[in-house]
Amino acid sequence: MTTQSASKIDFSKIDEIIQSYGAKKSNLIAILQKVQETFRYLPEDAMIYIGTKIDGLSPATVYGVATFYAQFSLEPKGKYEIKVCDGTACHVRGSMPVLNAIKARLNIKSGQLTTDDGLFSLETVSCLGACGLAPVVVINEKVYPQMTSDAVKLILDTIFQEEA
Ligand code: FES
Repeated sequence: MTTQSASKIDFSKIDEIIQSYGAKKSNLIAILQKVQETFRYLPEDAMIYIGTKIDGLSPATVYGVATFYAQFSLEPKGKYEIKVCDGTACHVRGSMPVLNAIKARLNIKSGQLTTDDGLFSLETVSCLGACGLAPVVVINEKVYPQMTSDAVKLILDTIFQEEA
């Protein structure tokens, strides 16, 4: 059993996940999903570890699978994961001004996923299946309907106050 050394990854958690699904190639996606859920992203060390623990896999194969599927993030996600829907209904009803308001409030640059303090990550997603509530923003699975720039700024202000 591997103990933690210089790495911040708790490999015992990964062992538990591999054991719970079974150390088989065919379970790789499920294992990666659970690892991502646990760490909020797929750390490089975790992918290497999984690649050495399952017969028939290599770290390179695991990395290849992880980069192929859009559901996997190789970058740390923030404590607050913000998703702005930019599907057609949300776009038409003003998702872009809402997105820009969030970027401005968080001081997040184009192409940047997570704020420097690790508190927020921001991404656009396609239709969330709640078009009647457009434009929709989701923060850690909570759905915020009919968002406006002002409303989203208030929500972020509230989070900042709670985190202060
Ligand atoms: S387009 Fe945004 S929920 Fe459908």
